[in-house]
Amino acid sequence: MCGIVAYLGKKAAQPILIESLKRLEYRGYDSAGIALLQGDGLCVQKTSGRISVLEQILPPPRSIDTVGIAHTRWATHGVPNTVNAHPHADYTGKFAVVHNGIIENYSTLKTWLQGEGIPFLSETDTEVLSNLIGYLYASDEPSERGHGRHRFEWAVQQALQRLHGTFGVAILCADFPDTLIGAKRGSPLILGVGSDEYILASDAAAIVEHTTQAIYLADNEMVLVGSEGFHTKTIDNVVVAKDLKRIEFSLEQIELGGFEHHMLKEIFEQPEALSTCLGGRIDKQCGKIVLGGIANHLRALTQAKHIIFTACGTAFHAGLVGEFLLEHLARIPAETEYASEFRYRNPIIGDDTIVIAISQSGETADTLAAVEQAKERGATVLGIVNVVGSSIARATDAGIYLHVGPEIGVASTKAFTAQVAVLSMLAIEVGRRRHLSSDAAARCIHELGKIPEKIRTILDQSDHIREIAAANVDRENWLFLGRGFNYPVALEGALKLKEISYIHAEGLPAAEMKHGPIALIADGMPAVFIATAGPQYDKIMGNIQEVRARGGKIIVVATEGDNEVRRCADHLITIPESSELFQPLLTVVPLQLLAYHAAVLRGHDVDKPRNLAKSVTVE
Ligand code: M6R
Repeated sequence: MCGIVAYLGKKAAQPILIESLKRLEYRGYDSAGIALLQGDGLCVQKTSGRISVLEQILPPPRSIDTVGIAHTRWATHGVPNTVNAHPHADYTGKFAVVHNGIIENYSTLKTWLQGEGIPFLSETDTEVLSNLIGYLYASDEPSERGHGRHRFEWAVQQALQRLHGTFGVAILCADFPDTLIGAKRGSPLILGVGSDEYILASDAAAIVEHTTQAIYLADNEMVLVGSEGFHTKTIDNVVVAKDLKRIEFSLEQIELGGFEHHMLKEIFEQPEALSTCLGGRIDKQCGKIVLGGIANHLRALTQAKHIIFTACGTAFHAGLVGEFLLEHLARIPAETEYASEFRYRNPIIGDDTIVIAISQSGETADTLAAVEQAKERGATVLGIVNVVGSSIARATDAGIYLHVGPEIGVASTKAFTAQVAVLSMLAIEVGRRRHLSSDAAARCIHELGKIPEKIRTILDQSDHIREIAAANVDRENWLFLGRGFNYPVALEGALKLKEISYIHAEGLPAAEMKHGPIALIADGMPAVFIATAGPQYDKIMGNIQEVRARGGKIIVVATEGDNEVRRCADHLITIPESSELFQPLLTVVPLQLLAYHAAVLRGHDVDKPRNLAKSVTVE
């Protein structure tokens, strides 16, 4: 959460910082600010509200101001007001800091600094860092602490070494107008390297317009950027060499491209995205799946006695589908754990346990901590991640990338279907290497290959789904009900509706209704059933009748050609026929559209839902 960006080059920094900040706005959007190094010192401007509000208070850009830092915030410490917005200057006015992460020992440090007579203006943890740097920089000067720019560097290193918690920071010092320092621990930070210009940012979306060459900092590393070039070292001053990497996505992928919202664009991108994710991995001729990223771990996976998926939010729901698939196709006991719970449990991890972390961003703090916890206990840890080079991708032993391009909408859509597609491929391949017959594996592969085209036919129903949303959007409580492979989809449908339309929704296994939740059913309460063809069809038809008899409004996602369900549905959405194993890839799509249209009809900013941010890099 929070987006940070910094620029050092030959162009006017302000417009570049603002444009880059807009590309990071999905990371947080409750306040924003910018600091420029000017001839006579630092100029800091900040405000509560979005970047568009910040733009209104900024003076016209000056071409001579070519170095600056900027921030878009998702508040952790302190309400989202102007004082708490970043950048935070120190008490001497020499330093300005933008920060993403949480300084866990800020309270101890603040008390100590206050005892030293240092004043504080904000409630944030970040101001502790700027004041600490200022304090160390101004302290009495033994010669080993260096002079000039080395002293700036030394003060930053000393301050960062005293921090507990996570940080991605960019720091300016008024004494050195051609220097910028960045550092990270637990929060992402990338340096884009252009010709005669550098952009330091929380993610590549802010960089790609300017350059596709970048270095990815590792934890406890820092970068010093100056007009003469850049140097990387650890925060305890050991020089490290970093390779330039190519940023793999294009500007076009992060633009709206004619869609009203990123979420809608990403829903409609799913056929193409899944074709890319599946393509090259499915070998139809040999009836095999090729998962290059985990090739060296397939034997261990095949022999595993226990597989644990760990993830948060939508990725957790994908993990549940993966658990069902792996048990069904490969007959390996599997379970899915919220990463936030897993990390604080005392999980049983043996030599033959494999932990698989699932994350779109690859930066979710809880998932990353779960990975570390599993590694400490000796597990092989694999990742299913979208963002190339992200923290989780680097922390895991090996992994499979989704390859669906950047997901900007806060509500995850194409990442879910891609995660399920990858898990399907994994389950088929591990199954094939155990007891699944070649014919059965080939049938699965054939089915999977047809999914992108089937999704297209569901997307054609978007207007119809909008009408269903319109007819029910005034209801404040909804239920989503599914069974078997579609139970995780019910959870996902409810999450989508909650997070962008702010309608209360619960996802449940349909049979659980009669154990309590059926008491909620009152006249006209929308109940969305996933009642597709499969072994549990008759059971879920019974559940529909139970809710219908109590006055619920029945919205059904069913298989094309099912006339029986039509008779008991108030609203019907159909999906093409498919094996129940891969139905989640189809049944989730109408639920994504339902949530999207409901949120738009309620007048919400779909891509920036209240209180949320795209990647949750704090606990
Ligand atoms: O980046 P990750 O996949 O690790 O993110 C996990 C969740 O924070 C994420 O899926 C969240 O629940 C989405 N807002 C759901 O749409």
